Amino acid sequence: MTDLSGRVALVTGGTRGIGLATAKALAEAGATVVLTGRDESRAKEAAAAAGASAGLALDVTDAKAVSTLVRGVAKEHGKLDIVVANAGIMEDALLGMIKEDLVDTTLSTNVAGTLHTVQAAARAMMRKKTGAIVVLASIVGEYGSAGQTVYAASKAAVANIARSAAKELGRSGIRVNAVAPGVIDTDLTAGLAEDAKADNIARTPLARLGAAEDVAKAIRFLVSDEASFVTGQVLGVDGGLVL
Ligand code: NAI
Repeated sequence: MTDLSGRVALVTGGTRGIGLATAKALAEAGATVVLTGRDESRAKEAAAAAGASAGLALDVTDAKAVSTLVRGVAKEHGKLDIVVANAGIMEDALLGMIKEDLVDTTLSTNVAGTLHTVQAAARAMMRKKTGAIVVLASIVGEYGSAGQTVYAASKAAVANIARSAAKELGRSGIRVNAVAPGVIDTDLTAGLAEDAKADNIARTPLARLGAAEDVAKAIRFLVSDEASFVTGQVLGVDGGLVL
């Protein structure tokens, strides 16, 4: 089992789904984990459920709040080793139906929110010249998806935040990678029609939807020393769906 004892980790959007499973997986591997959620009481409840040391309120669209929180966590624990920029939203809209506020909320949460988190993480990790960051891309960001142009564009941007930050931060000992999940069974995909889920399963070589824990295990690998020479990668966690 991956050993993360002595590491300090931060997971955004950790109150449910992939974020909660990741917080749990990192805590089980021995890391001291801080998770965040938009609602403080839900963040505290999730922290207790995940075995995390704290649950804090954070909206990742607020750059100043992200910077203050990340600096505070690093100060309290003396360092910050791992950051998982997981918070994200998905709303479908066909091209003709895309409204400006959907563009704004999707880009400000998925792109700017991830960017704020990576920037703050890099600042906190730079001093110790070590750290691992993972961001949440998506297979649709790599291959596109009808009815998901805005979301797919946002996730393509997220993948390129990982690639660019990896190039910039490598010499500071900081690795940056992305995971690109397929269809994972969480609240985000709960609205998918049953026939769409069945169609995805039929096209997936591993013949099932993903679980949040499947993604959490891939993230745990990427932030661990097992991935010590891996940076700038976008790791598919999709059961082979895109093959
Ligand atoms: P989810 O909807 O279950 O959880 C998303 C989390 O992000 C929630 O805790 C939510 O409160 C938080 N969040 C949303 N906006 C926020 C904001 N402005 N500030 C702070 N927190 C915010 O979704 P799920 O499935 O766990 O997704 C996690 C990440 O994985 C997202 O970035 C999503 O785009 C990505 N992903 C999910 C896939 C899936 O099939 N479930 C597939 C590919 C990527």
